[in-house]
Amino acid sequence: MLRAVISDKAGVIKWNGKRRSEICCIGTTRYSLSLVDYNIGGERPVETGGSVIVKLHDRSTPQPRRPPFQHQAEHPHTPRSAQVDTRVPTLKGRLARFLGRNWARVGYAYHIEPTWLEINRFDLPVRDLPDSFTGLKIAHLTDFHCGHQIPQGYLEDALARTVAEKPDVIALTGDFVHKGYRHVQAAADLVRHLKAPLGVYAVLGNHDFSVRNALGVRRYPGLHQAVADALGAAGVQVLRNTAVRFDRAGGGLILAGVDDLWSRECDPQEALAGGCPQTPRVVLAHNPQSVESFGDHRFDLVLSGHTHGGQVNWPGLGRILLGRKAKRWAAGLYPHRDGHIYVNKGVGFGWRFRFGVRPEVAVFTLKPA
Ligand SMILES: [Fe+2]
Repeated sequence: MLRAVISDKAGVIKWNGKRRSEICCIGTTRYSLSLVDYNIGGERPVETGGSVIVKLHDRSTPQPRRPPFQHQAEHPHTPRSAQVDTRVPTLKGRLARFLGRNWARVGYAYHIEPTWLEINRFDLPVRDLPDSFTGLKIAHLTDFHCGHQIPQGYLEDALARTVAEKPDVIALTGDFVHKGYRHVQAAADLVRHLKAPLGVYAVLGNHDFSVRNALGVRRYPGLHQAVADALGAAGVQVLRNTAVRFDRAGGGLILAGVDDLWSRECDPQEALAGGCPQTPRVVLAHNPQSVESFGDHRFDLVLSGHTHGGQVNWPGLGRILLGRKAKRWAAGLYPHRDGHIYVNKGVGFGWRFRFGVRPEVAVFTLKPA
């Protein structure tokens, strides 16, 4: 038995509010310490300089192996629930714990999170917003990635939940299809059910252009036109480097859209040149990095997708699938210049795996700044 002084330095024992045992050396003999009088301090953290009673166990000689989960016999009369397993975890135990924990995370990331949609609502201050547009509600969805991986019922539910928010405008920022022509019609049939008083608007993403990187090489050169035509036939207005203006009671609001940054058809000058500089402007751009090409043109809110938030935000590792540049605008709301950029985590996924990055629909309610 030993009365040990609590220290946060290497030495006698560490106590951080949990019952723990540690290894220490006295001379050449190695001991493990187990708390005996652990009721000193109880469940409360003990200040540095406090003390507890500990028992020394000689670890220099081999210890007989105990069956798993059998508590030590120092307190034969102590109820099992009050006993503490003070064994030092072995390397094998730690490895098993590590593997078990991460296997559970992988199962969750495949089976649950990819279709666990969240609705994120924001009150967004906008400069020069006319009174007639105060309270205007914009629903933003992106990156459906229609294909064989995404359950159709999940997408239909996401759209039904969007309509239930009663938005005035619905904005879709690209990647309607994941790959090729096969699911173009399915994507159009899906968005056909979206309805809003001021309309449903869209821009195309890099997957709609079948472009996988900034080199701009297209695998299916006519795919973007097929997607745009199908969306148009489904009642969605596709903004290809153009803008529309909403007017209410003498006030105005501009909604502009640019083609995907990697498509080599992105033309912000064309999309943003018109309009009065005092009129607030919302811009749809699939890739958030498009804002770097907006020059001095006014924008108050840029709605983007593309990153999927990295799809993985692993504890201790972060968004490991995003490159350095993409991490600048990975997910969420970013103030930029006099406005904001919103990077939506997307509804669908490129590959079925999400961890810490739930799919989302974002709903913005505009208010005067
Ligand atoms: Fe995407």
